Amino acid sequence: MLDSVWLIPLKMLDDDARAIQLGAVAGMELAAGQIDFVGDPFRMMLLGLEEEARLPYVIEARGTAVGVLTLQPGAARLAGWPDDDSAWLLRGFLIDKRQQGRGLGTLAAAAAVEEARKLTRRLGGGQAGVVLSVNERNPAGQAAYVKAGFTDHGQYLGGDAGPQRIMYVAFRGDAP
Ligand SMILES: CC(C)(COP(=O)(O)OP(=O)(O)OC[C@H]1O[C@@H](n2cnc3c(N)ncnc32)[C@H](O)[C@@H]1OP(=O)(O)O)[C@@H](O)C(=O)NCCC(=O)NCCS
Repeated sequence: MLDSVWLIPLKMLDDDARAIQLGAVAGMELAAGQIDFVGDPFRMMLLGLEEEARLPYVIEARGTAVGVLTLQPGAARLAGWPDDDSAWLLRGFLIDKRQQGRGLGTLAAAAAVEEARKLTRRLGGGQAGVVLSVNERNPAGQAAYVKAGFTDHGQYLGGDAGPQRIMYVAFRGDAP
């Protein structure tokens, strides 16, 4: 059983290291039907590198790139949150289909929350937690987030792939 994952911040790498990570991301695949829930991993990483506000990460386990995720401040409304700035947005989250079902999604979601907490301390953005939206037809996603500490905050109808659940977790030690 794996007990840790690492989040590799793509924007912090030099060009060579970034190219190696992007090469690994280009080989990632989703299972049938999962493309409804998330974008193409390679394109999402390129977009994350282009857009100043996005912080794209490669998820690594035992030295292998197993997935991707993006953290973004100032955009929580995109997940149905009432304001943009009180929570980080977690978006573009996936685990390569050959690596799914081993607990990595749960570990990576928890690691993303820890990373967001550290970023808040470092950057002083004042966020109190992390929010995301997950499709109601995506039980694996919902299960991974619940196991990582997220709780359901109601329905969001803003996406174009059907109703979503708004899921939020407050940083440890912060008031609810
Ligand atoms: C969602 C996702 C990241 C989860 O990654 P993962 O590594 O497979 O997650 P885990 O192994 O930690 O599994 C989490 C839980 O989901 C459960 N689960 C997995 N598939 C499931 C399914 N089809 N139905 C119900 N539960 C399911 C697992 O059983 C596990 O719970 P358990 O440990 O109590 O058994 C992965 O499925 C994925 O990349 N999906 C496609 C993209 C996506 O949906 N991203 C989220 C967009 S918001």
